[in-house]
Amino acid sequence: MRFSAILASLVAPAVVAAASNFAGSNLYYAAGINATARTTLLKGLQSANMKVLCVWIGAQSGNQKGTQVTPFPDVEPSKICNGDASCYDPTVLNLLDDFMVDAHNYGIKLLITMHSFNALAAGDVYGKQYGTGYFYEQSAPQQAFDKRLQYILNHEHKTLGKPWKQLSEYIFGFEAENEAMIGKGEAYIQAHTAWQCDRATTIKNTLGSNSGILVLTGGESWVSESVQSPWLSCAALDVISLHAYGVGDFATANLQTYVTEAKNAGKKMIMEEWGACYFSTENNNCPQGSVLSTSTRNSNIKTWAAQINAAGLSWLYWQVLPNNDPHEGSDYEIGIGDASWSTLQTAAKAAYSTTGAFDFSAYLL
Ligand SMILES: *[C@@H]1O[C@H](CO)[C@@H](O)[C@H](O)[C@H]1NC(C)=O
Repeated sequence: MRFSAILASLVAPAVVAAASNFAGSNLYYAAGINATARTTLLKGLQSANMKVLCVWIGAQSGNQKGTQVTPFPDVEPSKICNGDASCYDPTVLNLLDDFMVDAHNYGIKLLITMHSFNALAAGDVYGKQYGTGYFYEQSAPQQAFDKRLQYILNHEHKTLGKPWKQLSEYIFGFEAENEAMIGKGEAYIQAHTAWQCDRATTIKNTLGSNSGILVLTGGESWVSESVQSPWLSCAALDVISLHAYGVGDFATANLQTYVTEAKNAGKKMIMEEWGACYFSTENNNCPQGSVLSTSTRNSNIKTWAAQINAAGLSWLYWQVLPNNDPHEGSDYEIGIGDASWSTLQTAAKAAYSTTGAFDFSAYLL
């Protein structure tokens, strides 16, 4: 036994304090919001004690969910760069440089999603050349995509002077892609689980083993689809991300099954996306419809957040907006100041007094 270990055992408390859950949010177009909106968002998240914000890398423009987005291109705006440094466009990374410094001042770290199935399916440079199948199946796009991941992880922060892969004070985690393969269906995801582990291996190898930054999966459509057993045994993955919108998936007993699987596999797990529909449709099918009463929606938010926490899971809401929600459809969002905001705020704060199955404390501010 090393001396330091003996010392640690002498001073270690007899009972280790249980980890608490935390809450956070998503805003896929955060890189393009203006300074006023950024302050509104970060102040709001802080007031809810939200600790992590998930943001995406990929082109955005126009009006998204009522937010004016200053247009920005993808890091590979016009062709697959395949490691050619002069070909990548760092605009979105530079925007996120500013954002993460601001976020840090509000006690918030970023979870950075380096691509999305949405962009692939919408015909970004990878989608155009390989479509949504060959992208996951052929080795050339996988190698080129790994170079994209390396380019992003090695991006030198413009004011902090360090590459992102060393910025654990600002970055909670990285994931290769939001909802990889999601439009291909569950059987396809099951048949191509190696894609996820291979990309995570690239991320982990670039970060190194002591980066203080987590590697996550980026989730799928629902809970069982988000938990593929090859990911539980993939050494490079630290966290299995759950995405869920179906009410059955929010049941504590359902979630506990997966929490146990993750614990047994030595992985962490998080409810990375969930939301309460604004309409009276099925919760996981929320395009438009008649509006739920505010009290019913608030009760849903409170109940489901508590159920997720009771399973030992921390959660990120989809999504908190820096403006009132225009209710444009597929409507889970809650604007700061909207009727349900104070309910979400209270639920997020309550996460802290619940016991977590996984200890994220070393990764939070
Ligand atoms: C900043 O963005 C918000 C949210 O979209 C918008 O309401 C506001 O007008 C914008 N402010 C400026 C100065 O563009």
